[in-house]
Amino acid sequence: MKLGFIGVGKIATSVIEGVFKAKINIREIILSPKNNKNCKYLKKKFKKILIAKSNQEVLNKSNWVILSVTPKVGRQILKNLKFKKNHIVLNFISTIHNPELKKIIFPAKKVFKVAPLPMIKYNLGPIIIYPKNKNVEKFFSKLGEVFSTNNEKENKKLWVMTSFMATYFEIFNTASKWLRNKNIDTMISKKYLSHLFKGLNHELLVNLKLSNDKLIKDFQTKDGINEELLLSVKRLSVFKNLNKSFEKIYRRIKKN
Ligand SMILES: NC(=O)c1ccc[n+]([C@@H]2O[C@H](COP(=O)([O-])OP(=O)(O)OC[C@H]3O[C@@H](n4cnc5c(N)ncnc54)[C@H](OP(=O)(O)O)[C@@H]3O)[C@@H](O)[C@H]2O)c1
Repeated sequence: MKLGFIGVGKIATSVIEGVFKAKINIREIILSPKNNKNCKYLKKKFKKILIAKSNQEVLNKSNWVILSVTPKVGRQILKNLKFKKNHIVLNFISTIHNPELKKIIFPAKKVFKVAPLPMIKYNLGPIIIYPKNKNVEKFFSKLGEVFSTNNEKENKKLWVMTSFMATYFEIFNTASKWLRNKNIDTMISKKYLSHLFKGLNHELLVNLKLSNDKLIKDFQTKDGINEELLLSVKRLSVFKNLNKSFEKIYRRIKKN
């Protein structure tokens, strides 16, 4: 496989690091030249990297192509590139969906929408794929947990949850800052909270068959401090508003 990248930003870099960590058998990775810093970093770290002179050279030299630019850049540049009919195109671009993309990159037709996340560099995290395809799923199953969706609607709904990352860290940050303001050493508070969240996440993973309501009930005591915090946060409508925000993001993703 010759894997080409148009766009070598944050997520492309994580995917490439993940590919080498997973020891996937590839002949070459061809990078578009725009982000000089990331290209140099990757070239220095891994042998099988080629930095192309242009985006078109990436397409000419690869059989699998990953589109990892922002939607704005994608709409500007892709129409000027010549794709091959038999290119396998992996579309990472959040708000350019496959039907629109297929029109832009004709005659390439084998287009898959893929949502990797930065943890892919450790071969961790969920990866959404649409439509289902054995070869694409096989490739990404080495890099994380694959969620292949049956239709585009399902794909867009799951994609909403990829917006959760920074908010998740902000919850962590709020707790971490609270501890720091109470003069707890930063490293200790970060470690404590990381292990707390890791343990809780483990509970979720080993109890997939249990209802969320049961888990929430099991992790609080009548008149205890878990009950108190949950009630207090609910009274502030935090979860209602989070739900509203998911809806807003879903509308944005659907619109395109
Ligand atoms: N980050 C995530 O967790 C994540 C997850 C799933 C999907 N995505 C999607 O993946 C795409 C990239 O996201 P990102 O976070 O990696 O963004 P990013 O770091 O901004 O990467 C975009 C890259 O595109 C490069 N670029 C700009 N103009 C270009 C051109 N004309 N030709 C080739 N490359 C060009 C930029 O180079 P310069 O920096 O030199 O301008 C930049 O390195 C987005 O559509 C995003 O929605 C991201």
